[in-house]
Amino acid sequence: MNMEFNTIYNINCVSLMKSMDDCVVDLTVTSPPYDELRNYNGYVFNCEEIVSQLYRITKKGGVVVWVVGDKINKGNRTLTSFKQALLFQQTGFNVHDVMIYKKKNTPFMRSNAYTSCYEFMFILSKGTPKTFNPIMEKTARHGLEMLVHNKGADGINKKVLAELKPEKVKNNVWEYAVGLNGSTNDKDAFKHPAIFPEKLAEDHILTWTNPNDLVFDPMCGSGTTCKMAKKNARLYLGCDISEDYVNIANTRVNRCQKEIIYF
Ligand SMILES: C[S@@+](CC[C@H](N)C(=O)[O-])C[C@H]1O[C@@H](n2cnc3c(N)ncnc32)[C@H](O)[C@@H]1O
Repeated sequence: MNMEFNTIYNINCVSLMKSMDDCVVDLTVTSPPYDELRNYNGYVFNCEEIVSQLYRITKKGGVVVWVVGDKINKGNRTLTSFKQALLFQQTGFNVHDVMIYKKKNTPFMRSNAYTSCYEFMFILSKGTPKTFNPIMEKTARHGLEMLVHNKGADGINKKVLAELKPEKVKNNVWEYAVGLNGSTNDKDAFKHPAIFPEKLAEDHILTWTNPNDLVFDPMCGSGTTCKMAKKNARLYLGCDISEDYVNIANTRVNRCQKEIIYF
Protein backbone atom coordinates (compact mmCIF):
# COMPACT_ATOMS: atom_id res chain seq x y z
CA MET A 1 0.00 0.00 0.00
CA ASN A 2 1.26 3.47 -0.92
CA MET A 3 0.70 5.31 2.33
CA GLU A 4 0.74 9.09 2.55
CA PHE A 5 0.80 11.38 5.56
CA ASN A 6 -1.98 13.95 6.15
CA THR A 7 -4.51 11.32 5.04
CA ILE A 8 -7.30 9.37 6.75
CA TYR A 9 -7.78 5.83 5.47
CA ASN A 10 -10.84 3.58 5.60
CA ILE A 11 -9.10 0.39 6.71
CA ASN A 12 -8.59 -1.92 9.67
CA CYS A 13 -5.79 -0.25 11.63
CA VAL A 14 -3.77 -3.48 11.88
CA SER A 15 -3.55 -3.66 8.07
CA LEU A 16 -2.56 0.01 7.86
CA MET A 17 0.11 -0.36 10.55
CA LYS A 18 1.54 -3.48 8.89
CA SER A 19 2.18 -1.37 5.78
CA MET A 20 4.13 1.24 7.81
CA ASP A 21 7.89 1.33 8.43
CA ASP A 22 9.38 0.79 11.89
CA CYS A 23 9.80 3.79 14.23
CA VAL A 24 7.97 6.50 12.26
CA VAL A 25 5.28 7.80 14.65
CA ASP A 26 6.05 10.46 17.27
CA LEU A 27 2.70 10.36 19.04
CA THR A 28 -0.48 8.28 18.92
CA VAL A 29 -3.61 9.72 20.55
CA THR A 30 -6.44 7.23 20.34
CA SER A 31 -9.42 5.69 22.03
CA PRO A 32 -10.44 2.08 21.35
CA PRO A 33 -13.98 0.67 21.48
CA TYR A 34 -14.82 0.23 25.21
CA ASP A 35 -15.73 -3.41 25.83
CA GLU A 36 -18.85 -4.01 23.77
CA LEU A 37 -20.49 -0.76 24.91
CA ARG A 38 -21.12 0.31 21.33
CA ASN A 39 -21.19 -1.52 18.06
CA TYR A 40 -20.25 1.56 15.98
CA ASN A 41 -20.76 0.32 12.42
CA GLY A 42 -19.39 -3.11 13.26
CA TYR A 43 -15.67 -3.50 13.98
CA VAL A 44 -12.84 -5.95 14.48
CA PHE A 45 -10.68 -5.30 17.53
CA ASN A 46 -7.59 -7.38 18.19
CA CYS A 47 -5.84 -5.60 21.04
CA GLU A 48 -2.67 -7.80 21.03
CA GLU A 49 -2.01 -7.11 17.35
CA ILE A 50 -2.80 -3.40 17.69
CA VAL A 51 -0.45 -2.95 20.67
CA SER A 52 2.42 -4.88 19.07
CA GLN A 53 2.12 -2.91 15.81
CA LEU A 54 1.95 0.36 17.77
CA TYR A 55 5.19 -0.59 19.51
CA ARG A 56 6.91 -1.33 16.20
CA ILE A 57 5.85 1.90 14.43
CA THR A 58 6.48 4.23 17.40
CA LYS A 59 9.80 6.10 17.41
CA LYS A 60 12.21 5.65 20.32
CA GLY A 61 10.97 8.20 22.87
CA GLY A 62 7.57 8.35 21.17
CA VAL A 63 4.35 8.19 23.15
CA VAL A 64 0.94 6.49 22.88
CA VAL A 65 -1.99 8.15 24.70
CA TRP A 66 -4.66 5.44 25.17
CA VAL A 67 -7.97 6.94 26.35
CA VAL A 68 -10.23 4.25 27.75
CA GLY A 69 -13.06 3.49 30.19
CA ASP A 70 -14.67 0.28 31.44
CA LYS A 71 -18.08 -1.22 31.02
CA ILE A 72 -19.93 -1.98 34.26
CA ASN A 73 -21.33 -5.46 33.80
CA LYS A 74 -24.09 -6.26 36.33
CA GLY A 75 -22.39 -4.05 38.91
CA ASN A 76 -18.92 -5.40 38.10
CA ARG A 77 -16.34 -3.19 36.36
CA THR A 78 -14.61 -5.16 33.62
CA LEU A 79 -11.19 -3.50 34.22
CA THR A 80 -10.48 -3.98 30.52
CA SER A 81 -8.67 -0.64 30.71
CA PHE A 82 -6.16 -2.08 33.22
CA LYS A 83 -5.76 -5.30 31.22
CA GLN A 84 -4.96 -3.24 28.13
CA ALA A 85 -2.44 -1.10 30.06
CA LEU A 86 -0.72 -4.27 31.31
CA LEU A 87 -0.59 -5.56 27.74
CA PHE A 88 1.19 -2.36 26.65
CA GLN A 89 3.68 -2.86 29.49
CA GLN A 90 4.27 -6.53 28.61
CA THR A 91 4.84 -5.51 24.97
CA GLY A 92 7.69 -3.20 26.00
CA PHE A 93 6.09 0.21 26.58
CA ASN A 94 6.79 2.14 29.80
CA VAL A 95 3.65 3.09 31.67
CA HIS A 96 4.92 6.67 31.90
CA ASP A 97 1.77 7.95 33.60
CA VAL A 98 -1.85 7.08 34.30
CA MET A 99 -3.77 10.30 33.79
CA ILE A 100 -7.45 11.02 34.35
CA TYR A 101 -9.84 12.60 31.86
CA LYS A 102 -12.52 14.12 34.09
CA LYS A 103 -15.80 15.10 32.47
CA LYS A 104 -17.23 18.37 33.76
CA ASN A 105 -20.78 17.47 32.77
CA THR A 106 -22.95 14.46 31.81
CA PRO A 107 -21.47 12.15 34.42
CA PHE A 108 -22.78 8.60 34.52
CA MET A 109 -25.17 8.24 37.52
CA ARG A 110 -25.50 4.98 39.48
CA SER A 111 -28.06 4.32 42.17
CA ASN A 112 -25.67 2.51 44.53
CA ALA A 113 -22.25 4.01 43.72
CA TYR A 114 -20.69 7.44 43.37
CA THR A 115 -21.34 9.20 40.09
CA SER A 116 -18.80 8.12 37.53
CA CYS A 117 -17.18 11.06 35.74
CA TYR A 118 -13.78 10.00 34.39
CA GLU A 119 -11.84 7.84 31.98
CA PHE A 120 -8.19 6.83 32.01
CA MET A 121 -5.51 8.31 29.76
CA PHE A 122 -2.63 5.83 29.83
CA ILE A 123 0.62 7.52 28.76
CA LEU A 124 2.73 4.75 27.25
CA SER A 125 6.22 5.61 26.08
CA LYS A 126 8.82 3.71 24.09
CA GLY A 127 11.69 4.41 26.50
CA THR A 128 11.81 7.87 28.05
CA PRO A 129 9.58 10.43 26.27
CA LYS A 130 11.77 12.48 23.93
CA THR A 131 9.49 15.54 24.12
CA PHE A 132 7.75 17.06 27.12
CA ASN A 133 6.38 20.59 26.72
CA PRO A 134 4.44 20.84 29.97
CA ILE A 135 1.24 22.85 30.10
CA MET A 136 1.55 25.42 32.87
CA GLU A 137 -1.13 26.91 35.07
CA LYS A 138 -1.21 29.96 37.29
CA THR A 139 -0.45 29.49 40.96
CA ALA A 140 -2.89 30.98 43.48
CA ARG A 141 -0.13 33.07 45.09
CA HIS A 142 3.34 34.04 43.97
CA GLY A 143 6.28 36.18 45.04
CA LEU A 144 8.36 36.03 48.21
CA GLU A 145 6.56 34.54 51.19
CA MET A 146 7.35 33.13 54.60
CA LEU A 147 6.61 29.44 54.23
CA VAL A 148 6.21 26.89 56.97
CA HIS A 149 9.02 24.42 56.47
CA ASN A 150 8.90 20.76 57.51
CA LYS A 151 8.91 20.16 61.22
CA GLY A 152 12.39 19.60 62.63
CA ALA A 153 13.37 16.87 65.09
CA ASP A 154 12.45 19.31 67.87
CA GLY A 155 8.85 19.26 66.57
CA ILE A 156 8.93 22.97 65.80
CA ASN A 157 7.77 24.28 62.43
CA LYS A 158 10.53 26.40 60.94
CA LYS A 159 9.53 29.28 58.71
CA VAL A 160 11.66 30.06 55.65
CA LEU A 161 11.53 32.86 53.13
CA ALA A 162 10.98 31.31 49.70
CA GLU A 163 9.81 32.40 46.31
CA LEU A 164 6.52 31.02 45.02
CA LYS A 165 6.53 30.88 41.24
CA PRO A 166 3.69 32.51 39.24
CA GLU A 167 3.18 29.29 37.26
CA LYS A 168 3.41 25.58 37.94
CA VAL A 169 3.12 22.43 35.84
CA LYS A 170 -0.50 21.30 35.56
CA ASN A 171 -1.41 18.13 37.44
CA ASN A 172 -2.35 14.88 35.75
CA VAL A 173 -6.13 15.14 36.18
CA TRP A 174 -7.43 17.02 33.13
CA GLU A 175 -10.98 18.31 33.16
CA TYR A 176 -13.03 19.01 30.05
CA ALA A 177 -16.60 19.98 29.30
CA VAL A 178 -18.20 17.45 26.97
CA GLY A 179 -21.07 17.67 24.46
CA LEU A 180 -21.76 20.42 21.93
CA ASN A 181 -19.61 23.51 22.59
CA GLY A 182 -17.67 21.44 25.13
CA SER A 183 -15.97 18.60 23.25
CA THR A 184 -16.24 20.68 20.08
CA ASN A 185 -18.53 23.23 18.45
CA ASP A 186 -18.38 21.19 15.26
CA LYS A 187 -21.87 19.65 14.95
CA ASP A 188 -20.73 17.05 12.39
CA ALA A 189 -18.56 15.38 15.02
CA PHE A 190 -21.67 14.24 16.90
CA LYS A 191 -22.66 11.95 14.02
CA HIS A 192 -20.11 9.72 15.79
CA PRO A 193 -21.38 8.34 19.14
CA ALA A 194 -18.16 8.49 21.19
CA ILE A 195 -15.87 11.43 20.49
CA PHE A 196 -13.31 12.78 22.91
CA PRO A 197 -12.83 16.57 23.37
CA GLU A 198 -10.72 18.44 20.84
CA LYS A 199 -8.89 20.17 23.69
CA LEU A 200 -7.89 16.79 25.18
CA ALA A 201 -6.26 15.75 21.89
CA GLU A 202 -4.69 19.19 21.46
CA ASP A 203 -3.24 19.27 24.98
CA HIS A 204 -1.53 15.91 24.41
CA ILE A 205 -0.27 16.93 20.96
CA LEU A 206 1.27 20.13 22.37
CA THR A 207 2.78 18.24 25.32
CA TRP A 208 4.38 15.26 23.58
CA THR A 209 5.27 16.62 20.10
CA ASN A 210 6.82 19.55 18.27
CA PRO A 211 5.72 21.08 14.93
CA ASN A 212 6.16 18.73 11.94
CA ASP A 213 6.14 15.59 14.14
CA LEU A 214 3.83 12.76 13.03
CA VAL A 215 0.64 12.24 15.05
CA PHE A 216 -1.34 9.03 14.48
CA ASP A 217 -4.84 7.85 15.39
CA PRO A 218 -5.48 4.22 14.35
CA MET A 219 -9.17 4.33 15.41
CA CYS A 220 -9.85 7.93 14.57
CA GLY A 221 -13.67 7.94 14.52
CA SER A 222 -14.78 11.51 13.78
CA GLY A 223 -11.16 12.63 13.26
CA THR A 224 -10.60 14.66 16.46
CA THR A 225 -6.88 13.81 16.78
CA CYS A 226 -6.14 14.43 13.08
CA LYS A 227 -7.98 17.75 13.14
CA MET A 228 -6.01 18.97 16.17
CA ALA A 229 -2.72 17.74 14.68
CA LYS A 230 -3.40 19.69 11.48
CA LYS A 231 -4.45 22.80 13.43
CA ASN A 232 -1.16 22.70 15.33
CA ALA A 233 1.10 22.18 12.29
CA ARG A 234 1.88 18.52 12.96
CA LEU A 235 1.71 15.81 10.28
CA TYR A 236 -1.22 13.47 10.84
CA LEU A 237 -2.28 10.00 9.86
CA GLY A 238 -5.59 8.36 10.73
CA CYS A 239 -7.78 5.43 9.88
CA ASP A 240 -11.10 3.93 10.88
CA ILE A 241 -12.77 0.70 9.91
CA SER A 242 -16.05 2.50 9.20
CA GLU A 243 -16.40 4.38 5.92
CA ASP A 244 -19.09 6.64 7.41
CA TYR A 245 -16.75 7.79 10.18
CA VAL A 246 -13.89 8.37 7.76
CA ASN A 247 -16.21 10.64 5.74
CA ILE A 248 -17.05 12.63 8.89
CA ALA A 249 -13.36 12.83 9.80
CA ASN A 250 -12.37 14.08 6.34
CA THR A 251 -15.10 16.75 6.40
CA ARG A 252 -13.88 18.02 9.76
CA VAL A 253 -10.18 17.95 8.92
CA ASN A 254 -10.64 19.60 5.52
CA ARG A 255 -12.56 22.46 7.13
CA CYS A 256 -9.85 23.06 9.72
CA GLN A 257 -7.23 25.72 9.05
CA LYS A 258 -3.64 25.04 9.94
CA GLU A 259 -2.42 27.64 12.44
CA ILE A 260 0.77 29.43 11.55
CA ILE A 261 3.29 28.42 14.16
CA TYR A 262 6.44 30.49 14.46
CA PHE A 263 9.46 28.54 15.64
C1 LIG B 1 -14.08 5.40 20.73
S1 LIG B 1 -14.20 5.53 18.98
C2 LIG B 1 -12.99 6.79 18.60
C3 LIG B 1 -13.56 8.19 18.63
C4 LIG B 1 -12.53 9.27 18.32
N1 LIG B 1 -11.55 9.39 19.36
C5 LIG B 1 -13.23 10.63 18.13
O1 LIG B 1 -12.93 11.61 18.85
O2 LIG B 1 -14.09 10.71 17.24
C6 LIG B 1 -13.46 4.05 18.43
C7 LIG B 1 -13.40 3.89 16.91
O3 LIG B 1 -12.63 2.72 16.62
C8 LIG B 1 -13.06 2.25 15.35
N2 LIG B 1 -12.48 0.90 15.19
C9 LIG B 1 -12.75 -0.20 15.92
N3 LIG B 1 -11.96 -1.22 15.53
C10 LIG B 1 -11.15 -0.74 14.55
C11 LIG B 1 -10.10 -1.30 13.78
N4 LIG B 1 -9.74 -2.58 13.93
N5 LIG B 1 -9.45 -0.51 12.90
C12 LIG B 1 -9.82 0.78 12.72
N6 LIG B 1 -10.82 1.37 13.42
C13 LIG B 1 -11.47 0.62 14.34
C14 LIG B 1 -14.58 2.36 15.46
O4 LIG B 1 -15.18 2.36 14.17
C15 LIG B 1 -14.74 3.69 16.22
O5 LIG B 1 -14.98 4.77 15.33
